Amino acid sequence: MNHFKDRVAVVTGAGSGLGKALAEAAARRRMRLVLADVQADALDRIVQSLRAQGAEVTGMAVDVADASAVQMLADQAQRDFGVVNLVFNNAGVTSGGPIWQNSAKDWDWLLGVNLRGVANGIRSFTPGMLAAAAADPSYEGFIVNTASMAGLITAPGMGIYSVTKHAVVALSECLHHDLQLASTQVHAAVLCPSYVPTEIGQCERSRPAHLVNTEPLTKAQLASRAAAQQAVQQGGISADSVADLTFRAIEERRFYIFPSPETLPLVKSRFDHVIQQTVPELPYDLFPALKDRRDRLLAAAAQ
Ligand SMILES: NC(=O)c1ccc[n+]([C@@H]2O[C@H](COP(=O)([O-])OP(=O)(O)OC[C@H]3O[C@@H](n4cnc5c(N)ncnc54)[C@H](O)[C@@H]3O)[C@@H](O)[C@H]2O)c1
Repeated sequence: MNHFKDRVAVVTGAGSGLGKALAEAAARRRMRLVLADVQADALDRIVQSLRAQGAEVTGMAVDVADASAVQMLADQAQRDFGVVNLVFNNAGVTSGGPIWQNSAKDWDWLLGVNLRGVANGIRSFTPGMLAAAAADPSYEGFIVNTASMAGLITAPGMGIYSVTKHAVVALSECLHHDLQLASTQVHAAVLCPSYVPTEIGQCERSRPAHLVNTEPLTKAQLASRAAAQQAVQQGGISADSVADLTFRAIEERRFYIFPSPETLPLVKSRFDHVIQQTVPELPYDLFPALKDRRDRLLAAAAQ
C-alpha cells in the first residue's frame, strides 16, 4: 500500500504509547481514523487532539477481549467510513514473574487482551476487507498485529506475555497464509518491537476489576516488574519512530516488522537451539536488559 490519504485506519489501544503514535502517524498521512481503547478518558484525549489538528476521527471505548464489542467497532467503522483499509490490532498488556506464580486471573487477562483481542480484530474486520477487495480492484487492505520480540524469543520472568506474543506471531503468519489463498489485495504483517518507552509498565490501570489479583505480588514478580519498567523506560527507539517504520513497512508490503533489528541475534540463537536440538540457553551478554532481569530474579530468590 503506497498511498494513505482518505483511506481508513482502525487502531486498538490508541489511547497511549504505540497505538497513539500509530494513530498520529496515520493522521499525518491524512487517513480517516477509527480509534478504540478500553480507557475512555485516554481515548477521548487523542480523539480531541487529532480532531483539533483537522483529522476525521471516530472514537469508541472497546475492550478488545470482548468479541461482541470488537464486532460493534467494525460495524461502527463501516457505518462511519465504509471500507476499512488498515487495521492495527495493537492493544496489549503485560505481567511478570516465574510462570508458576502467575494466577489464573493473570492468564485470563493476558490471553484475553493480547491473543483473543487480536483474534477478535481479525474475525470482525477481515471479511469486510475481503469483500471490499472483491468489489474494487483498486482496494488495498493491511492488517498489522502488534506482537513483540518476546514473541520470537523466551526469557525468564515474562512467561504469559511471551506465550501470548508467540501466539500473535503464529496467528499473524497463519493469517498471511490464509489471505494468500483469498486475495492479492489484503495483506497481513506482524510488528515486533523490542523495548519502547510507553505506559505499558502501568498497564494494571486498564485491568478489569474481576481480574484483579487478591494476593500481593511476590518478590520475584516485583523484581520482574521493576526490570521491565526500567527496560521500557530505557528503550532505544521512540513510539513515533516505531509508527513511522511501521508505515514504511506497509508501503513496502513487508510481513515482519522489526524496529530494533539489533535484537535479532537472540532470535537466531533460539532457532539454532531448536534446529540443533540443544537446551535453550540465553546469550545474556548480547542483551543487557535480559541480563538485568535475570540478576534481579536471582537476587529476589536469594532474599
Ligand atoms: N512498550 C514496549 O516496550 C513494547 C514492546 C513490544 C511490544 N509492545 C506491545 O505494544 C502494544 C502497545 O503497548 P504500549 O507499549 O503502547 O502500552 P501502553 O500501555 O502505553 O498502551 C496500550 C494501550 O492499550 C489499551 N488497552 C489495554 N487493554 C485494553 C483492552 N482490553 N482493550 C482495548 N484497549 C486496551 C490501554 O488502555 C493503552 O491505552 C502492546 O501490544 C504491547 O504488548 C510494547
